Amino acid sequence: MTDSSQRLTVQVDLGPRSYEIAIVSDELRSVAQDLERWLERLTYRPHRIGSALVVTDHNVRGPHGERVCEALRHAGWRCELISLEPGEQSKSLRAIAPIYDALVAMKADRHTVVVATGGGVVGDAAGFVAATYTRGVPYLQVPTSLLAQVDSSVGGKVAVNHSQAKNLIGAFYQPVGVFIDTDTLNTLPDREYRSGLGEVVKYGVIQDAEFFAYLEAHSDDLNDREPGVLRYIVARCCRLKADVVEQDEFERTGLRSILNYGHTFAHAFEALSHYDQLLHGEAVAIGMIYASRLAERMKLIEPDVTQRQLDLLKRLHLPTRLPDPRQFTPEAVLDRMKLDKKAVSGRLRFVLPTRLGHVELFKDVSEHDVRAVLEEMAGS
Ligand SMILES: NC(=O)c1ccc[n+]([C@@H]2O[C@H](COP(=O)([O-])OP(=O)(O)OC[C@H]3O[C@@H](n4cnc5c(N)ncnc54)[C@H](O)[C@@H]3O)[C@@H](O)[C@H]2O)c1
Ligand SMILES: [Zn+2]
Repeated sequence: MTDSSQRLTVQVDLGPRSYEIAIVSDELRSVAQDLERWLERLTYRPHRIGSALVVTDHNVRGPHGERVCEALRHAGWRCELISLEPGEQSKSLRAIAPIYDALVAMKADRHTVVVATGGGVVGDAAGFVAATYTRGVPYLQVPTSLLAQVDSSVGGKVAVNHSQAKNLIGAFYQPVGVFIDTDTLNTLPDREYRSGLGEVVKYGVIQDAEFFAYLEAHSDDLNDREPGVLRYIVARCCRLKADVVEQDEFERTGLRSILNYGHTFAHAFEALSHYDQLLHGEAVAIGMIYASRLAERMKLIEPDVTQRQLDLLKRLHLPTRLPDPRQFTPEAVLDRMKLDKKAVSGRLRFVLPTRLGHVELFKDVSEHDVRAVLEEMAGS
């Protein structure tokens, strides 16, 4: 497990859009080999080494983006690089326009590969460009934030935001492969890293009690970013997300909604704090505790299920309560939840655990119960 040479792979089975996720440590230089192997499998004519555009952001460019480009050049690729401002603002039509310009300038054709090297912002934005430039060019994901490695790089959702709504302009577009080097996490700021761990814990609660127990047993290694443990947890999360995506690629059956455990609360908290107090994974950590308390109230689980989540999140130094509950009055949170696109005709929908490792979608949760949980948590 801790052998740094050990590579793990996860196969995402989506018929003609199937692809592989490679999880390695300290092997960024070998990215070209995997890319070439993946393109070979995919194309209708023999793959030739061609051109690539690495899309990154200013934080990731120095430590990782340049290295990916160099590795490709070393293997004979013509590689250009473009870097975006870090942050959610770069997921906009205005911010991605220069990526199309760069593709035009390098005379990119349908074989030019877009290589998204960065967090979820870069992955979503570059993926959207790849889906639309000449109606689709191949793209490779090289996620460098923990959230991107365990969540956004898997599943093919690509998008930019509209000023009125997040992810409004997008597509389902699968990459040719995902190349994850856990060593890229060494430069990730502590808070961003922990935020990603919030989503990791989520997978244990929704799908895999054994994985949850593994996280409990390895919380010290997680805090130390131990490479072998990181490879294992990233691979496990990718496998769990792939299981869901394989059954509901285009978000039609509703199964994909289980990934939203903790998110109905989290989205409301994020919106009420104007997206600048809580990182997404922090809001999810708090949201999971609220959702779990709601499940307790509805007699779906015993208190120990909530307690184990609380203990684990605390050991990973994630918040489990709102910074200032007075800012999030039950009324304001409820109003916000009703605005959420996932609230169908004013009904409150929640993904709730029925035991550790299993969740179900409840489509009509009583407002009374939600209010009671919000009041209880605000007062506790
Ligand atoms: N497509 C999907 O299915 C999906 C799923 C979940 C989230 N998302 C999207 O993902 C985005 C959030 O992703 P995120 O949390 O990775 O945000 P992000 O891309 O903004 O990255 C967070 C911060 O970490 C920096 N960073 C990333 N990797 C780094 C590294 N290795 N070293 C140093 N700094 C690094 C970035 O520059 C940024 O400042 C949101 O836009 C969200 O909508 C998409
Ligand atoms: Zn999330």
